[in-house]
Amino acid sequence: MKLKVAMTIAGSDSGGGAGIEADLKTFAALGVHGTVSITSITAQNTYEVRSILDLPPSLIRDQIEAVAEDMGIDAAKTGMLHTREIIRAVSEEIERWGFPLVVDPVMIAKSGARLLEEDAVEELKKRLIPLSTVITPNLMEAEVLSGIKIRGIEEMKLAARRISELGAKAVVVKGGHLKERAADLLYFEGRFRLFESERIAAKTTHGTGCSFSAALAACLAKGLGIEESVRVSKEFITDAIRFGVEVGKGTMPVNPMARLYRDADRFRVMENLAEAIKLLEGCKEVSELIPEVQSNLVMATVNPTGFWDVVGIDGRLVRLRDGVKASSCPSFGASRHVASAVLVANKHDPEVRAAMNLKYSKRLIELMKGEGMSVSGYDRSKEPKEVKEVEGRSIPWGTEEAIRAAGRVPDAIYHTGDWGKEPMVMLFGRDAVDVAKKVIGLARKLKGLELG
Ligand SMILES: Nc1ncnc2c1ncn2[C@@H]1O[C@H](COP(=O)(O)OP(=O)(O)OP(=O)(O)O)[C@@H](O)[C@H]1O
Ligand SMILES: [Mg+2]
Repeated sequence: MKLKVAMTIAGSDSGGGAGIEADLKTFAALGVHGTVSITSITAQNTYEVRSILDLPPSLIRDQIEAVAEDMGIDAAKTGMLHTREIIRAVSEEIERWGFPLVVDPVMIAKSGARLLEEDAVEELKKRLIPLSTVITPNLMEAEVLSGIKIRGIEEMKLAARRISELGAKAVVVKGGHLKERAADLLYFEGRFRLFESERIAAKTTHGTGCSFSAALAACLAKGLGIEESVRVSKEFITDAIRFGVEVGKGTMPVNPMARLYRDADRFRVMENLAEAIKLLEGCKEVSELIPEVQSNLVMATVNPTGFWDVVGIDGRLVRLRDGVKASSCPSFGASRHVASAVLVANKHDPEVRAAMNLKYSKRLIELMKGEGMSVSGYDRSKEPKEVKEVEGRSIPWGTEEAIRAAGRVPDAIYHTGDWGKEPMVMLFGRDAVDVAKKVIGLARKLKGLELG
C-alpha cells in the first residue's frame, strides 16, 4: 500500500488526548503514514500538565532529517514548540526540506499550562510563520499574533489579514471558543471563507486544535487544495468531538478514529441484517407472523443519531404463501416506523439495537410470556391529540409509554390497534440476527401449538 507521508513536530501528551498522540491517530484515520519529531515530553492528563521535558534541539532536527532523507515528507504540522531554541531548530530544518507546513501556534494548553515561553512569540513570528502554508491560531492566539482584540467574525477577519502579513500563505482563525457557533475563518488569496458547525456541548474537546491541524497536514500531504483541506478537516473534527472518548476527570479527549469506527460499524450492521434476512427467508412458518402492512427488520449503529443510522429493508419483508421475502437489499434510512421504535429503545438501553414488527395475536403474546419474555403494551386510543396529528410520532410515543410502564426496554411491545390502525407487536433484540432467531423460534412454536 503506497501512502503519503505526514509528520507531526510536536509534544507528547501522556494522556493520549492531544499532541503527537492525537496527531498520529488523525493521520491514520485520514489514510496517511504518520511520522514524528517529538519536541517535548509532557506529563499530562485531562486536567493538568504536571511536568515538561524539552528534547535537545539537535535531536528534534535529527528526527526530521532521518525521516525526510529516507521516505520524504509530503506535509508536516507543528504543535508545541516550547522555546526559542526549538523554534529556531525546527524552522531551519523545515526551510531545508521545503515541505508544505501547517503551523498550529500552540501557546496555552486547555488546562491552562503555558506551552510556549513568552519570549518565543517573536521567534515564531519571524522564523516559522513565514514558512507556513496554513497557520491555525485559536481566538486567543490570533489576538496575541495580531494585536487585535477579537469579539466576533469582523475582528477575526482583521486578525487573519494581519497574521497573513507575517508571511503565512493561508490563515485559519479557529472559532472553537466563540459563544454561539463553532465558526472557523479561512483567509486565503485575499478571500474570506467561513466554515461553520453547531457548537457541540460535549466534554470531549481535549485535543481539538491538535487533531484539526493534523487533519489539515494529512489533506495537504494527499495533495488537496487549501479550501478543500479546511472543509474536510472541519468535518473531521466535528465528528471527533461529537463521538469523543469518555475517559478522565477533566476535559476528555476527542476521538480522531470516530469516523472510521462508525463506517466500520455501518458495514457490520449491514452484514448482520443481510444474514438475518437469509435466516427469515429460510423459514416458511414466519409468514404467519407478517401483518397486513408487512414487516420490517431494522438495526441501528452504535450511538445512532437518526434514521440515517438505522439500516432496514426498503419496501419491507413481504409475506408470501410459503414464507417471506425481502423486497430489496438492506439500506440506511429505509425504515421510518420500526426504526423510530429502535431509536427510542436504544436511548433507554444502548444494547438494544434491532427490532421487527409482527402481526398481533393473543396467542403470540401468551406464547412470548410463556417463554419468559418480558412484554409491555400500550393503548393507542390514549394517544394525545397533538401526537396523533403529526405523522410518525405515534410509535415513539407508544414505545416510550410501554418502556416507562415496564421500567426497562422489554423484549416486546404491543398495542391492540385503534381506528384504522392494525394491532402490532414490536420485537426487540441486540442485533438483527438475534431478532430473526427469536422470530423463527416463536413462529415454529406457534405452528407447533396449532398442529398439536
Ligand atoms: N464545542 C465545539 N463544537 C464544535 N466544534 C468545535 C468545538 N470546540 C472546538 N471546535 C472546533 O475544533 C477546532 C479547534 O478549535 P479550537 O478553537 O478549540 O482550537 P484550540 O483552542 O487550539 O484547541 P486546543 O485547546 O485543543 O488547542 C475548530 O475547527 C473548531 O471550530
Ligand atoms: Mg490549540
